[in-house]
Amino acid sequence: MTREHWDATYEAKAYEETGWFEAEPTVSLELIEECRVAPSEAVVDVGCGESFLVDRLLERGFKSLVLADISQVALDEV
Ligand SMILES: C[S@@+](CC[C@H](N)C(=O)[O-])C[C@H]1O[C@@H](n2cnc3c(N)ncnc32)[C@H](O)[C@@H]1O
Repeated sequence: MTREHWDATYEAKAYEETGWFEAEPTVSLELIEECRVAPSEAVVDVGCGESFLVDRLLERGFKSLVLADISQVALDEV
């Protein structure tokens, strides 16, 4: 899908109204823990949208975080 599609989606809905909203990104955090990624290592969230994953990783001491998304609307928000 196009950048226009994703920008329009994020402009039309609050993150909480999207079908992929997660108050807590539990599965992603569990996978990062399972893979034993240390807070000193870099994490790239491709297709980050407006997810709270970055917030939870910052809380856990991660500092090298890269957020990538096709939607500038989502990036402005996150
Ligand atoms: C289903 S949403 C999930 C967003 C986020 N990971 C979450 O859990 O809330 C998919 C995301 O992928 C992004 N996306 C789609 N195609 C992309 C591409 N080619 N490159 C980067 N991001 C893309 C969309 O803009 C959207 O934010």
